[in-house]
Amino acid sequence: MSAVKRTLIKNGTCVTASDTFEADVWIEGERIVALAHPSLRGTGPAPDLEIDATGKYILPGGIDAHTHLDMPFGGTTSSDDFETGTIAAAHGGTTTIVDFAIQTKGKTLREGIDTWHAKAEGKASIDYSFHMITTDVNPTTLSEMKDFIAEGITSFKLFMAYPGVLYVDDGQIFRAMQVARDKGGLICMHAENGIAIDVLVEQAIARGEVAPKYHSLTRPEIAEAEGTNRALMLAEMAGCPVYIVHLSAPRALGRVTEARDRGMPAYAETCPQYLFASFDDLAQEGFEGAKFVCTPPLRPRHMQEDLWRGLKTNDLQVVSTDHCPFCFKGQKDLGKEAFTKIPNGMPGIETRLYLLWDGGVRTGRISMNRFVEITSAAPAKIYGLYPRKGTLAIGADADILVWDPDLEHSLSHDQMHMRVDYSPYEGRRVKGKATHVFSRGELVVDGNKFIGKVGRGKFQKRSTFSL
Ligand code: URP
Ligand code: ZN
Ligand code: ZN
Repeated sequence: MSAVKRTLIKNGTCVTASDTFEADVWIEGERIVALAHPSLRGTGPAPDLEIDATGKYILPGGIDAHTHLDMPFGGTTSSDDFETGTIAAAHGGTTTIVDFAIQTKGKTLREGIDTWHAKAEGKASIDYSFHMITTDVNPTTLSEMKDFIAEGITSFKLFMAYPGVLYVDDGQIFRAMQVARDKGGLICMHAENGIAIDVLVEQAIARGEVAPKYHSLTRPEIAEAEGTNRALMLAEMAGCPVYIVHLSAPRALGRVTEARDRGMPAYAETCPQYLFASFDDLAQEGFEGAKFVCTPPLRPRHMQEDLWRGLKTNDLQVVSTDHCPFCFKGQKDLGKEAFTKIPNGMPGIETRLYLLWDGGVRTGRISMNRFVEITSAAPAKIYGLYPRKGTLAIGADADILVWDPDLEHSLSHDQMHMRVDYSPYEGRRVKGKATHVFSRGELVVDGNKFIGKVGRGKFQKRSTFSL
């Protein structure tokens, strides 16, 4: 039997959601075994691998709680699968994802989750878990929800948008919330009034308004605020926690803030595209704007400030990506004739930490600790992965980044690893990048090279909601 591999990361500054401190980080096998004062160096066994982190930070690996890999959507399939998507994630400093498995209408949740396990197994190179998109709430699926929670799949996404496809009505939402309340599950809401939006879409198309920008103009901020308010009220009525996914705008944020101020267990995430891109990108001449079609849509630039404020005040607890990439050629162009046919989604699994470090920490909008909190600790806590993941602690999984705060690099698509033919941030240069990425104790990214074994990622069972 071979001895357990021992790694020392020395001379770095550790940053968690709560603390910043100088310590040697010792890894044995898959776990952190010591955070030690440097004066103790040499008193124990020698490491097999030593990384000098002088001038760098040592951070817990990122947790992206919102990805769509290999997902059939809008008449095509998101362009990253679990192999390419998780390698890109690792390059960008994310060591765990929670992807969305989908129940096909008319089929069981079990069939849906089995399909997603098959997509990920042998392909995912970092750890992963699943939320279950529930498109058909009925006695069978309500009973399956209970089984899933017991098995470690503890969160369920419901859609108020996409009538006829993913949409569920208020009664279905309410029933699912009651199960979540009773069994410790968490309901994640796509909160937009899809019924009203479909009317606006139909009217816009009838007027010949087919360019990409009409995707945003037919999904107004108020449709999101209404959905968010309804989700919060239904959750309050059911007495369960609720998590609003991909919150994009101030009016919806205001509803979350108001609910939290009243003591409701209400949570919300935003995504980098709402902080770093805007309606101006969507409204570019010609068909370029298709690259920025995602749902909820990009909003006027001035609204970004409200989201940054929400991150500061903790009315927004998480930034995840909603990574749902489609190539510009061959996928986005399905919607050349009308925005309704443009597959909804943007790439982002690799760029989340880059953008938030460069545009958040370096600009002084958020502290380093808050950066760790919104990208790792908070999603770990909310989704039942903490403290195994989301922090630097003895006994935690050694999912660790050695982070160079000044390393400058480009966000152009040919410099990155996502399987998509464009970057929403083409030409943008940023500072801050992981020089080493460890996943469960294994060095998987060394400099610009992925050196992990494809398929090494493990499915993560999650605990029930306990905040
Ligand atoms: O445009 C988006 N967000 N695509 C993915 C599906 C969703 O609603 O999260
Ligand atoms: Zn959604
Ligand atoms: Zn999504």
